[in-house]
Amino acid sequence: MKRDFLALSQYTKEELDSLFVLTRELKDKQKKGIEHRLLKGKSVALIFEKSSTRTRVSFEVGVFQLGAHPLFISTKDSQMGRGEPIKDTARVMARYCDGVMIRTYGQEIVEEFAKYSSVPVINGLTDLFHPCQIMADIFTVIESLGSYEGLKFAWIGDGNNMANTWVEAAAIFGFDLTLACPKGYEPDRKVMEWAKARATSKIVLTDDPREAARDADVINTDVWASMGQESEQKEREKAFAGYQLNEALLDEARGNCMVLHCLPAHRGEEITDDVIEGPHSAVWDEAENRLHVQKAIMARLMRG
Ligand code: CP
Ligand code: NVA
Repeated sequence: MKRDFLALSQYTKEELDSLFVLTRELKDKQKKGIEHRLLKGKSVALIFEKSSTRTRVSFEVGVFQLGAHPLFISTKDSQMGRGEPIKDTARVMARYCDGVMIRTYGQEIVEEFAKYSSVPVINGLTDLFHPCQIMADIFTVIESLGSYEGLKFAWIGDGNNMANTWVEAAAIFGFDLTLACPKGYEPDRKVMEWAKARATSKIVLTDDPREAARDADVINTDVWASMGQESEQKEREKAFAGYQLNEALLDEARGNCMVLHCLPAHRGEEITDDVIEGPHSAVWDEAENRLHVQKAIMARLMRG
């Protein structure tokens, strides 16, 4: 039976850990120039309803490196933009392609797409989750610090798609996570309830950024207004004013703390230029690892 990659909660810790092992193998092969055309002769559709730099390029290059053919499809240039139902598009795409990645708004859209698609569907970001990104982030932590076990992770800022996915990850992988979000901008309530009910680790929500940052091994932030929230920029700047990841906040964390940001970043808002450019920042490795981790996900799902 085909499997999708819509949320981390569809997978066990063991399954996700084994994706990191495959990621390591594929990254090593790519660096050494060893062929790894695991999807030779296949085609993968990449559907975008929102803008992208990293997701588009890393998926296109990743599909190519696996020996398959990527198709970039912007919804506004296809019949989806003229209202063709998701369930019709999903069934037609599956007649041509061996897999689909989709970036869109509601999580229910990727779920409906996956329900009607006979080929694997990967979530390339929704308003609720960004699972490929968090897999790349955790792989970056493993590469740098050896493991995620026993670490304290901190989230500073908006309780958005990234924060929600970190909450799922903390429950699945069993690491401690403290999120500092302003009142009214907390992570999704259902995701928090799901995670708290199954977590063996501490998942703490506070409105105090210093509490989250204190003794953190990994500290993570993201933009204050996500795609689709542009009209709220000004009111969000006010609400998030005390939630900047700057040197003073970083001083609360452990001496070898890693700074992550999924990018794009708004320097001077959620993160300062000196922190993102500073010695703790792992954001370029993090961006690169999107490529390697997504190749592992595609190879696992689409190889047949
Ligand atoms: N981090 C991330 O998903 O970046 P893009 O929006 O550029 O794809
Ligand atoms: N939270 C951001 C992430 C971008 C990769 C957004 O959804 O716009």
